[in-house]
Amino acid sequence: MIAGLNIAKQSKQTIVGLAQKRFASDLIVSQKTGRTLIKTGSGGRSSSNGHVITVFGCTGFLGRYLINRLAREGAHVIVPYRDEDDMRHLKIMGDLGKIIPMEIHLRNKDSLEAAIRHSDTVYNLLGRDYETKNFSFADVHVEASGVLAELAQKHDIDRFIQMSAMNADIDSPSRFLSTKAEGENLVRSIIPSATIVRPSFMYGQEDRFLARLAMSRGLSVRINGGNTKVRPVNVSDVATAMHQMLDGNNTVGETFELVGDTEYTYKQLLDFIKETTNLDIGDVNVPKPIASLVAKAMNLLPWQTLGADEIERMMIDDKLTGAKTFEDLNIERSSLEVTGIQYLRRFRTNLYNDEPLKKGVVGKKKTFHTSYL
Ligand SMILES: NC(=O)c1ccc[n+]([C@@H]2O[C@H](COP(=O)([O-])OP(=O)(O)OC[C@H]3O[C@@H](n4cnc5c(N)ncnc54)[C@H](OP(=O)(O)O)[C@@H]3O)[C@@H](O)[C@H]2O)c1
Repeated sequence: MIAGLNIAKQSKQTIVGLAQKRFASDLIVSQKTGRTLIKTGSGGRSSSNGHVITVFGCTGFLGRYLINRLAREGAHVIVPYRDEDDMRHLKIMGDLGKIIPMEIHLRNKDSLEAAIRHSDTVYNLLGRDYETKNFSFADVHVEASGVLAELAQKHDIDRFIQMSAMNADIDSPSRFLSTKAEGENLVRSIIPSATIVRPSFMYGQEDRFLARLAMSRGLSVRINGGNTKVRPVNVSDVATAMHQMLDGNNTVGETFELVGDTEYTYKQLLDFIKETTNLDIGDVNVPKPIASLVAKAMNLLPWQTLGADEIERMMIDDKLTGAKTFEDLNIERSSLEVTGIQYLRRFRTNLYNDEPLKKGVVGKKKTFHTSYL
């Protein structure tokens, strides 16, 4: 009788325990605004972590990695977009109703305000590698950043995280980098607690870095003799760092330089790509004035090509200035040499099929070509 009672009591406790986890809730009070975030659920994508986050520039390369991290723990993510097709893949990253697309135009302040006013955090990933006839570097990196920061200030946003770039410098010969620095200064003057993030060249599945070098089959133009030193960083590591900044109080008002674990020259990178893909990339050193002239002429084409400003950026070594890094966030970086194959495998030539089989051949029937690993 007593044993039966105990079992009943235990199972009741178990049920209550489960129910508590399922319906657990917690209150987090923002240090800056005193706003209360209500956390409910066990922490997965069907829970809510209380955050409402707007990610400008979410339709780009980094955006998908960041939104994936934010939405899978139950945040409401506002996804501002220009072209509906460019944000479709983001909608499935969160539970039903958690990803909220909103159409915006950088010159329509009301549309920007509508995307910001319910949020507690704003990520500004807006950026462009080249200028268009409608938007200059200054329009996107400076003016738009200023407008977003002002709106964020007006609506008392808790966290503003501004994406800049490694080597951002007001005096840089690259307009991309000088406007990124202007954008940083403007944002900081409006929101001193803003976090600035400066990544080096990011690589990943959809990158414009490794892919561009690998795609230049037959001929790759070497600028600066291939001697410029860069520290490419995995886009996943950058997204993880940016995700941490959401709640990491040690990131408030700080600048982070996010670079990969190893420094390479462009020449070393080309050699790595050649070795990994077996592509016969012949590289020719082109003096900068000629490369810039050709790039300028190519920029008249109606599709995107290597811009003259990108040539300028390819001349600048990645230099750390002593800002905070991945170490301050306790994030272990992935290595290009280990992960690079994931992104370069698709560029491998069919010459791999003609190579002698290496160790790993299983019997006669089933061949296992290790060079496809
Ligand atoms: N990728 C790198 O290696 C690298 C290196 C250093 C710094 N960064 C910076 O990091 C950020 C994210 O990089 P990313 O590679 O993800 O950039 P990305 O792929 O070029 O995406 C840029 C985003 O900005 C938006 N955008 C650009 N111009 C706009 C305009 N006039 N109006 C509205 N939206 C506009 C784009 O929207 P649409 O899709 O509508 O065009 C897109 O969502 C950028 O600020 C970039 O400058 C990148």
